[in-house]
Amino acid sequence: MDTVTLQIDGHTLTVPAGTTIWDAAASIGITIPALCHDPRMAPVGVCRLCAVDIGARTLVAACVRACEDDMEVHTSTEQVVDDRRTLLELLLADYPEDSRREAATGDDELLALARAHGIEAIPYPDGAIGQPRGEDHSSAVIAVDHQACILCDRCIRGCNALQHNDVLTRTGKGHTTRIAFDLDTPMGESTCVACGECAAVCPTGALTNRALAGLQLMTEEQS
Ligand code: SF4
Ligand code: FES
Repeated sequence: MDTVTLQIDGHTLTVPAGTTIWDAAASIGITIPALCHDPRMAPVGVCRLCAVDIGARTLVAACVRACEDDMEVHTSTEQVVDDRRTLLELLLADYPEDSRREAATGDDELLALARAHGIEAIPYPDGAIGQPRGEDHSSAVIAVDHQACILCDRCIRGCNALQHNDVLTRTGKGHTTRIAFDLDTPMGESTCVACGECAAVCPTGALTNRALAGLQLMTEEQS
C-alpha cells in the first residue's frame, strides 16, 4: 500500500495515500471543525470551516485535501482560527435569530461552533440581503426553514447516498439558492418517505423534526 508521511501540529504520522488531512488528524485525536463534512459521506468541501494551514498561498479545506509527503499541517494557528470565525460570522449574517433546532434539542452545530469561536450574537444584524427564503410546512414530519440553510449538502447526501431515496437536490442561484424536493415540489407532496435522515444530518435549524420542535401540522392554506 502506498503511504505518505507528514506532520500535523508537530505530530509525525504515516497514512495511506489519498487520506484526507481531516481523517489523518482525526486518527491521532485532533478534531478539525467541520460543518458540511460528515465522515459517513463523501466530502464536498463547501463550507470551508475545516480550513488549515499547509504553508501554501491560501488555507486549504482539510476534509477534501489529501495528505502529501513532507506536508506540515497547522490546524489551529491564530490566522486559521480568525478565518474560521469570519466564515462563521458570514454564515450567521442572515441566520434566523431563533434557531428551531437549538430551541428544540439544543444541538445546532452552527451556533455551537459560533460560541466556541467567541461569537455571542448574530453578527452584521443588517447584513441580510434580498427576500427571506421562506419555510415549507407541508410535511407532517419535518419542518423546513430555508433561511437557516447554509447549503452544506448534508441532507442531499444523506437522502441520496445514505438512504438512496434520491428526493433532495438544490435549486435556484445566488442568494435564492435552496434545497428542493423532487422537481421543487413542497416536501409533503414529494416522493419523500419521511425517513428523517435529512433532519438527522442537518447541522442547523433548517430541517427539524416537527414533533421535537413542538410544531402542529399546518393546513394547506397555512403551508
Ligand atoms: S437543509 Fe440543513 S443539511 Fe440541508 S443543505 Fe441546508 S443546512 Fe445543510
Ligand atoms: S467541513 Fe470541510 S469544507 Fe466544510
